[in-house]
Parts: sequence; structure tokens; C-alpha cells
Amino acid sequence: MDLKLKDKLVVVTGSTGDGIGKHIAEELFRQGAYVVINGRSQGSVDKTIADITKSNASVAEDASTKLIGVPGDVSSEEGSNKFIAALEEVETKIGTKLYGLVNNVGIFEAKEFTEIADDKWIEYYQTNTMSGVRLSRHFLPLMKERNEGRILFISSECGLRPLPHMLPYGVSKTSQIALARGLAEMTKGTAVTVNSILPGPTMTGGVRKYMQEFAEMHKIASMEEAVATYFKDAEPTSLLQRFLDPNEVAAVTVFTLSPLAAGVNGACQMVDGGVVRHI
Ligand SMILES: NC(=O)c1ccc[n+]([C@@H]2O[C@H](COP(=O)([O-])OP(=O)(O)OC[C@H]3O[C@@H](n4cnc5c(N)ncnc54)[C@H](OP(=O)(O)O)[C@@H]3O)[C@@H](O)[C@H]2O)c1
Repeated sequence: MDLKLKDKLVVVTGSTGDGIGKHIAEELFRQGAYVVINGRSQGSVDKTIADITKSNASVAEDASTKLIGVPGDVSSEEGSNKFIAALEEVETKIGTKLYGLVNNVGIFEAKEFTEIADDKWIEYYQTNTMSGVRLSRHFLPLMKERNEGRILFISSECGLRPLPHMLPYGVSKTSQIALARGLAEMTKGTAVTVNSILPGPTMTGGVRKYMQEFAEMHKIASMEEAVATYFKDAEPTSLLQRFLDPNEVAAVTVFTLSPLAAGVNGACQMVDGGVVRHI
């Protein structure tokens, strides 16, 4: 399906590694968009571009111009300002303004609430919430001026269903949902949209490692059985009873970025495999 994203410039923060961001970037590339790949180091950005180029050799797009690496740490004000300046250089170089901002970057870990000190809470707030605040503060007015653009926050079902062992994460994800809805209110009467995407448990690199440890801990021989046990015990409300593939999250995200999704604004788009039991 042609999502009408050809030659649109889209940035995906935290799109290195093998996570949701990388898969969103990859699908955008297949759709013909200019995609800014971001992570904290030049090495991780270069590796991701090489990986996407290699696994999409049959795609007609020119990866050397369509995949643009912009390393930068978006968890601080200084890092975000530098990142914005670098994005402006990209806009000038390719001669088009930013169409899509995907606030994907996010940190998470499991830890007891009583063992989490203030600095960790602040780190979550800076990385998961403020990165999106700063980038949206810069780009939303410009999108509104041009009457074109998309902002997405890759939140989580944890934003609706905070897990006690991941509280700073859950609180940061709830804040992204509120932020997206509040920013969407500012787009009234324009063609710009702001939405949040709420993935459920997704098989990324970090989760794969966690499941291997889970299998060892419970003396389970196969990954298939470990996943079945995990979902039965820890995620009984999941209708899917398996992890989402990052491509499944990317598909919904990239559709929401498309001009075809003009009617989706201020929404909290679930891609959680039915984990959250609500209507
Ligand atoms: N995995 C899940 O089950 C799941 C479920 C629901 C929602 N989500 C959300 O989906 C998003 C992506 O998650 P993921 O599992 O795909 O994560 P991931 O695999 O850990 O990828 C995140 C990427 O962000 C980069 N990064 C970290 N801190 C950064 C910073 N300060 N500035 C710039 N880049 C930074 C890292 O790359 P470098 O090391 O190269 O910097 C890493 O490649 C997150 O917002 C997460 O909350 C994930």
C-alpha cells in the first residue's frame, strides 16, 4: 500500500539497535521517505544505516541519500538543541522541511520502587518525557505554519497500566500520552496531527535477553515454552499470548504518520495485543 510518504522527511529518535525505532525507520525507508536515524553515537547510527541498507537491497530507494544519520543525546536540553540544529542542516541539505517527528527514544528497567532514588526518576523524565517536549516545542509551531506534519509519541500500554516494578517508566509513559493529547488540542483546524502509540510487550533486543534469563531461571528448554509460560503467568490478559514483533508496531506507527491518517488526531493508538482489558 502506498502511504504517500515518498520524499517526506521524518526523524525517529532512538532508532539504532534492534528495537521499535529501527523498525519504524526501516518501514519509512521502504515507503520512500527521508529518514533521520538517531542514537547517541556515530558508531551505532552508522551500523543501523548499514543494517537497513543491507536488508533492503531490493528496495528501489537510494539508501545513501534517504537514510541520514544524526547522532545526538536527546535526554538533555543541550543535546536536544544540538540535535535540532543538526536537523535544520539536514532540512537545508535535502531542501525539505521536517514532516514527521517520532519521539521513540525511551529507557526502561525493572526495579523495586523503594530502591529508586531521585536521580533515576529525573533521568526517566529527561529522556522519556522532556526529549519529546523540547523537540515538539520547536517543530510543532513550524508544522502548524506550513499546515502539514505529524508528531508521534511511542508511549506504552504501561502508561495506562503502570507496573509496580517499573514505576518511573510507567509514569513517564503516562506523561507522554497526556503530552500528545495536549499538543493535539493546539492543532485544532489545521492538517497537523499529534498522537500517541501504545505498544504492548514487544520482542526487541532487551526483551529477548530478559526472556533468555527467564528461561534459564525457570529451567525451561525452549524459547517457545518460555514465552508461553511468561504470558500465562505475567500477562494473562494478553489476547495475543505472545510478544509483538517490532514490525507490527512499526506498521501501525507508519500508517499513523501517513497523510492517509489525517483523521487520526489526539488519539491513543493501542498496539498492545489486547493486554489492556478495556473498551
Ligand atoms: N520493547 C517493548 O516491549 C516496548 C513496549 C512498549 C513501548 N516501548 C517503547 O518503545 C520505544 C523503543 O523501545 P525499544 O524496546 O525499541 O528500545 P531499545 O531497543 O532500547 O532502543 C532504544 C534506542 O534508543 C537509543 N537511545 C537511548 N538513549 C538515548 C538518548 N538519550 N538519545 C538518543 N538515543 C538514545 C539507544 O541507542 P544508542 O545506544 O545507540 O544510543 C537504543 O538503540 C521506547 O519508548 C519504549 O518505551 C517498548
